[in-house]
Amino acid sequence: MTAATGAADAVPTTDAVPITDAIPVADAVPIRDAVPVTDAAPVTDAVPAGIAAAVEIRGVTKSFGANRVLDGVDLTVCPGHVTVVIGPSGAGKSTLLRTINHLEKPDAGYVRVNGELIGVRQQKDHFRELPERAILAQRAEIGFVFQSFNLFPHLTALENVAAAPAATGRASKSEARERAAELLTLVGLADKLDAYPGRLSGGQQQRVAIARAMALRPGLILFDEPTSALDPELVGEVLAVMKDLAGTGTTLIVVTHEIGFAREAADTVVFMDAGRIVEQGPPRRVLDHPEHPRTREFLSKVL
Ligand SMILES: Nc1ncnc2c1ncn2[C@@H]1O[C@H](COP(=O)(O)OP(=O)(O)O)[C@@H](O)[C@H]1O
Ligand SMILES: [Mg+2]
Repeated sequence: MTAATGAADAVPTTDAVPITDAIPVADAVPIRDAVPVTDAAPVTDAVPAGIAAAVEIRGVTKSFGANRVLDGVDLTVCPGHVTVVIGPSGAGKSTLLRTINHLEKPDAGYVRVNGELIGVRQQKDHFRELPERAILAQRAEIGFVFQSFNLFPHLTALENVAAAPAATGRASKSEARERAAELLTLVGLADKLDAYPGRLSGGQQQRVAIARAMALRPGLILFDEPTSALDPELVGEVLAVMKDLAGTGTTLIVVTHEIGFAREAADTVVFMDAGRIVEQGPPRRVLDHPEHPRTREFLSKVL
């Protein structure tokens, strides 16, 4: 997070949003004791002492109008771990991912990535929104893979992957293209460098999107149902690329209904329902011996 930290530190105070937009820190701190013990998610993935959490989500609450979509979410993710988030439609899974890179602003609570507050800085007892360019710098450190690929249709596979590193000045144009070719080879698309998205299958497009997410060498990549838009026969090739990525040291948070992937690749499975983390733990425990009736009910539908 060096670049992001630098950018955030460089922000003059005068650029900060007015104090009226600030969130009182007191509201942001989760009141753990107020959560009924039976509803509280056991913290099973606590990071070992002396290691900074890759992602720390504390007391994150988010409403759209009267609809409370995230209701005090706490989650800690170890560096290099794969966390799979499962749960019914509308549970708040996408909103949770989007708060991690501040595409959604929490109403209360905070997110830290590698120890750095995302989207805000603390000033005395308030969180103040960072200026847009500081948020963009933080976002560049976090890869995001969407269900709908979101590739540029007028750019080739290679140009899609090379675009961000070249545009952010992280690499020269030729370095960016060289690295893009390497990444596309890694995801099995060495023969598609010059293909436009419209000429690629959904599975191939999603593999380009994964290569693109890796292009800025993020320590963290978020996946929001990356295989949900694919024909069934194309799901496997995308999951295979994600399995390769797991265990390479990159921290992955994956929202998916692919329980087989969760079983094979996840260090932690998180079950969300109605804006809360209901249960979390190693895949064998959560998937095979769920403690909560809502987890059991959900799994009985998807397994
Ligand atoms: N931008 C938005 N405006 C209003 N409601 C939203 C918005 N984004 C999500 N929601 C609502 O929040 C709830 C959770 O959505 P989402 O996080 O997409 O759930 P999931 O990904 O688990 O299906 C849903 O009821 C959805 O309609
Ligand atoms: Mg979703």
